[in-house]
Amino acid sequence: MVGRELLHFLEKSRLPVGELRPFSSGSAGKTVPFRGRALQAPPVDKKTLYGCGLVFFVSSDEISIQHSPGLAARGVLVIDDSSAFRLDPKVPLVIPEVNGHVLRRRLRLIAGPNCTMTPLAVAGIALHRAVGVTEVRLATYQSVSGAGRAALEEFFRQVRGHGRLAVKGRAPVLHSSIPHQALPKPIAYNVIPQVGGFDQRGCSGEESKVASELRKVWDAPTLRVSVTAVRVPVVRGHSMSAWLTLRRPISPAAARKLLAKTPGLKLSADGDYPTPLLVGGKGPVYAGRIRQGATPRELCLWLSYDNLIKGAALNSVQIAEELLKKGWL
Ligand SMILES: NC(=O)c1ccc[n+]([C@@H]2O[C@H](COP(=O)([O-])OP(=O)(O)OC[C@H]3O[C@@H](n4cnc5c(N)ncnc54)[C@H](OP(=O)(O)O)[C@@H]3O)[C@@H](O)[C@H]2O)c1
Repeated sequence: MVGRELLHFLEKSRLPVGELRPFSSGSAGKTVPFRGRALQAPPVDKKTLYGCGLVFFVSSDEISIQHSPGLAARGVLVIDDSSAFRLDPKVPLVIPEVNGHVLRRRLRLIAGPNCTMTPLAVAGIALHRAVGVTEVRLATYQSVSGAGRAALEEFFRQVRGHGRLAVKGRAPVLHSSIPHQALPKPIAYNVIPQVGGFDQRGCSGEESKVASELRKVWDAPTLRVSVTAVRVPVVRGHSMSAWLTLRRPISPAAARKLLAKTPGLKLSADGDYPTPLLVGGKGPVYAGRIRQGATPRELCLWLSYDNLIKGAALNSVQIAEELLKKGWL
């Protein structure tokens, strides 16, 4: 899912791509489109990989762990979209418009954040700098493409399998016997309050990642973060409801002014809001429904964004573009 978007943004970017060498898990004859050609995507071959100047990893934690340190040690620049190195203190976790200042000339391994955290970091950074965010509470509505291609294919199979339901009197009762494997429950006609495995405290992997990665990117070690991450039957585009507790109160009107100037963010008209169908295929993070919460120090907002784009592929390309701009690529 992310790899295809990456190719699209590489084609559009200012990066001087001389030759592109795609890899895959090795399905026979697999090709990917780039600049009007179908490029073979064979299994990872170390020798070819090590001959590259810049490597994007958009596959799995295992592949990144296997290859990134060796590549970086040999001077190859690695931009990694997996979660393998995001919390490693030696590896910067970068969203260019939020913390691009942590990039350094000699860095060879750079991580891109979790697709649920990135938009929140983009949307909240101006507020955090202006009035201080001490606590974030989130409820997410995450699309199926966020779980990769296998999950999306499973979703479509489930919809096709039950697509002819007619309403005869009572609304149909669908039981959880719909076959599923990629996600913990059937996702068609359902919502699943589990994204990743649960830890001993009962938090899912996604919930923990959002909290720890946001603290790292905002450099806010004492920030309190509570998340309920939920998968919803949407193809692409994650959304979230965010409640921010602020050190100093700010009116919704003043907050809107700040948000309107925040790089990478598009604000809906007052009273309006973005949805996944609006944001699909687009780069920015979209925000709406800015309002005061239970107290003047609480601000509520609604965010929607394309998880495959700013949540992953575009952010990685923007990191490389930032290095290029600084003359470090
Ligand atoms: N989906 C999102 O919204 C999102 C957002 C942020 C970050 N990410 C991260 O981006 C990465 C990719 O996610 P995705 O959603 O695009 O997953 P995906 O749709 O399942 O794609 C995974 C890709 O990895 C390739 N792959 C798997 N095993 C491999 C191996 N042994 N050697 C080489 N290539 C291999 C697959 O190749 P084949 O095509 O041959 O199967 C496929 O192209 C993950 O690390 C994920 O955590 C995803």
